[in-house]
Amino acid sequence: MSAPLRILGIETSCDETAASVVLREKDGSGRILGDVVLSQLEEHSAYGGVVPEIAARAHVEALDTLIEEALLRAGVKLADIDAIAATSGPGLIGGLIVGLMTGKAIARATGKPLYAVNHLEGHALTARLTDGLTFPYLMLLVSGGHTQLILVKGVGDYERWGTTIDDALGEAFDKTAKLLGLPYPGGPAVERMARTGDPKRFDFPRPLVGDARLDFSFSGLKTAVRQAAQSLEPVTEQDIADICASFQRAISRTLKDRVGRGLKRFKAEFAAVEKPALVVAGGVAANQELRATLQDLCDQNGFRFVAPPLQLCTDNAAMIAWAGAERLAAGLAADGLDVAPRSRWPLDNNAQALIGSGKRGAKA
Ligand code: KG4
Ligand code: ZN
Repeated sequence: MSAPLRILGIETSCDETAASVVLREKDGSGRILGDVVLSQLEEHSAYGGVVPEIAARAHVEALDTLIEEALLRAGVKLADIDAIAATSGPGLIGGLIVGLMTGKAIARATGKPLYAVNHLEGHALTARLTDGLTFPYLMLLVSGGHTQLILVKGVGDYERWGTTIDDALGEAFDKTAKLLGLPYPGGPAVERMARTGDPKRFDFPRPLVGDARLDFSFSGLKTAVRQAAQSLEPVTEQDIADICASFQRAISRTLKDRVGRGLKRFKAEFAAVEKPALVVAGGVAANQELRATLQDLCDQNGFRFVAPPLQLCTDNAAMIAWAGAERLAAGLAADGLDVAPRSRWPLDNNAQALIGSGKRGAKA
């Protein structure tokens, strides 16, 4: 594909409604022209989690205006757009229907091609937009719905090396916060409390550490936190801080082991790659202690650590537009208007579904 491409992206898979216009130059570099994200956090916080019906309704109400706003900020008209990219899975089905149907309607009205994008592919390719990474590289996706270590080999070419066998990491933060009486979303609250806590006070389990596979498990850790809190009743502010700090430390150690193994495997399989890179994505990537752990791990193993700006690590439509641009540039076929949304859609078609993994299935 020789000409620069302008792609309109739409993201509605969970609790962020987002629209974006992204430019992909002939040389493969990219730029965000206009980007808007509307978080539904306030609508869901009273329920301690995302309520699918509320999410779908909120997407319907906001999406048209957000698309107009993204085009306006980008200074382009629909006629200037080369293709439309809409998230069509995985995620909450109601929201996916809203975004994909809107994308189809725009494609039909303008005659432009439609790309039905896998949300995980959006996360996986973001580092090429922000940092110009070349294939292959390794990605750790740690969000409210996913914890995966993915080998990114090319556009549309992914290998899942590890995944959670129970809770996602963000989910573990959220559940831990809830049982300690901290607000939703739990990650930022736990991180805040951990700052004044003693990480050595509780020796929480480090699930699967030492295991030869590259999978993750966090539900046992959450149970250990519950037991610690119950044994201290009534818990003080300092107890909570100590539990949070110890919980975070256990996760750091776990990631160090699991991801460390992934880096070694990458080096063994891709010895010729001169500057290997680990990319982190997902809301949990905001956590400073975990970031520092991953940075250290990369330094020790000769890897470049790439953490895109936070607003591009969490859910957004620029990554969806970019994935569409990459697919178009790679010559991959657009989707027909009969393409269906998929609440479950693994990035790696050969990956085995693990019992219990991603059971919430809501967030990616
Ligand atoms: O990627 P994201 O914004 O949404 C999806 O899951 O799609 O991730 C949200 C998750 C929540 O579980 C939240 O608790 C977690 O990211 N999170 C954090 C932090 N900030 C957000 N976890 C740990 N530390 C943080 N600072
Ligand atoms: Zn996501």
